[in-house]
Amino acid sequence: MSPGRFPSSADDGVLIPLVDMVSGSTTSVGNGCPAMIAPDDSADDILYCWDYLHLDDLLHAQTPKSAEVGELIHDEVFFITVHQTYELWFKQILVELDSVMVIMGQGNVRARDLRTVLARLQRINEIQRLMVAQMGVLETLTPLDFLDFRAMLLPASGFQSVQFHLIENKFGLLDRDRLKVEGHDYVATLRPDHAELVTSSEHAPSLFDHVEAWLSLLSFVRVEGFDFMASYQNAAAGMHAASRAKITGLSNVDAVSMDKQLAAFEKSIEKFDVIFDREKWETEVRQGTRRFSYDAFVTALFINLYRDEPALQMPFQILTTLIDVDETLTLWRERHALMAHRMLGRLTGTAGSGYAYLDETAKRYTPFKDLFDVSTYLLPHSAHPRLPRSVLRRLDFQAGYRYVIVRQPPQMARRVTSVEGLDQVGLYPGVDAVSLTRPPGDDVDWRLGSHEYVFSVLGTAPAHEGVRALGEFIENHVAVTYV
Ligand code: HEM
Repeated sequence: MSPGRFPSSADDGVLIPLVDMVSGSTTSVGNGCPAMIAPDDSADDILYCWDYLHLDDLLHAQTPKSAEVGELIHDEVFFITVHQTYELWFKQILVELDSVMVIMGQGNVRARDLRTVLARLQRINEIQRLMVAQMGVLETLTPLDFLDFRAMLLPASGFQSVQFHLIENKFGLLDRDRLKVEGHDYVATLRPDHAELVTSSEHAPSLFDHVEAWLSLLSFVRVEGFDFMASYQNAAAGMHAASRAKITGLSNVDAVSMDKQLAAFEKSIEKFDVIFDREKWETEVRQGTRRFSYDAFVTALFINLYRDEPALQMPFQILTTLIDVDETLTLWRERHALMAHRMLGRLTGTAGSGYAYLDETAKRYTPFKDLFDVSTYLLPHSAHPRLPRSVLRRLDFQAGYRYVIVRQPPQMARRVTSVEGLDQVGLYPGVDAVSLTRPPGDDVDWRLGSHEYVFSVLGTAPAHEGVRALGEFIENHVAVTYV
């Protein structure tokens, strides 16, 4: 290899030891690759780890500008590798995000799919934590050494990361919340096909939209004559009256500071008004200070309060993980802004903005801000309204297994006459009743685009496996017959 030239093919020599290390012998299946040889495979069909991972492409995709124009600058290769690693993780985040959105976009998310949603969101969160930590690796490049090749990179910029902007839009960042860079739109520096791709992702339903729709459809909040918000308003009023009495009862406080304390207290509890006043909430949504619909927000509050009920544990974890994901991306933004500051000082980046812009995005770009705000309205456990038995039963797998079967819409004229398989009840010890709690009829919301039947399976034995097994039986085998 000539001095200053970066290897561009395996023949250049630098990569040979790596080849030896990975291959070992031609029949090896080790080195972290999945088992790749079936016993009767012919030699041609043997899958080789290097090929499987397309390492010829991947490991030769680092082509520094410095080597093109003269001497290779050692740190430029490192800079490219760090960037590429980020883009690979961005790609994986998009894969996870898209799959979560497919599940969440079903209209009526099946309870059994929530674990997958949670697992994929958690994976996104872990990747983002790694992305934050990776800034430390990048910072082993000193500002002075960066100067040796920085000018060669103009006018390219991290701002042109198409995948990063896709992630932002798919999470639910709104164009109206974006900052302009030097008066320009964020897609202004992108190639036209990339700008088109990113802009079109602004108009597709985002994770935020899917989560909002899912929360709005979960109907725990007003069921069977129980009006949760009315009860919660009473509970909040009781708590606030007790706190007010405590302040006015303070004996060692003069009149002036008492008035001050009372005024501060009244101001703090004014914040509650908006959750008991749908119109006020909707006005704030129109003004852009809130984003979730009123129904979605109230459900999120309910899930946070009653998170220990079995049916709410998974939704609670999903809401918590959405906050985690929003938070770790914010941490990445902050970390990247700090790195840009120490690398560039007060200079601007290649797209014309500096760390101040990056820092500001960290403060503003939080699509799930409403979920963070739920804490404003939490009351201590002792003040939570007691849920009626009928609601508790719906939220408890042990007392009853509520199962939802979604079918494509049947013709409206058809009515259910029998549900095959329900006579199997006797096979499941501990299950003593199965009922179709919402028979399809004119009251069904046809706008959902799918038809929902809710089966209640009541078991006598707590947490009896039979209840769960019957639920799965219904899921897999029940055929609904129509006339
Ligand atoms: C020496 C290293 C780096 C410096 C000094 C730096 C600096 C900057 C600056 C100043 C901006 C604002 C736009 C501009 O004027 O160019 C920016 C944007 C951006 N950079 Fe970096 N960056 C570096 C490395 C990276 C890496 C490794 C990534 C990973 C992909 C990255 C991703 C981004 C993204 C996604 C934006 C757009 C952020 C937004 O608009 O909110 N940067 N960078």
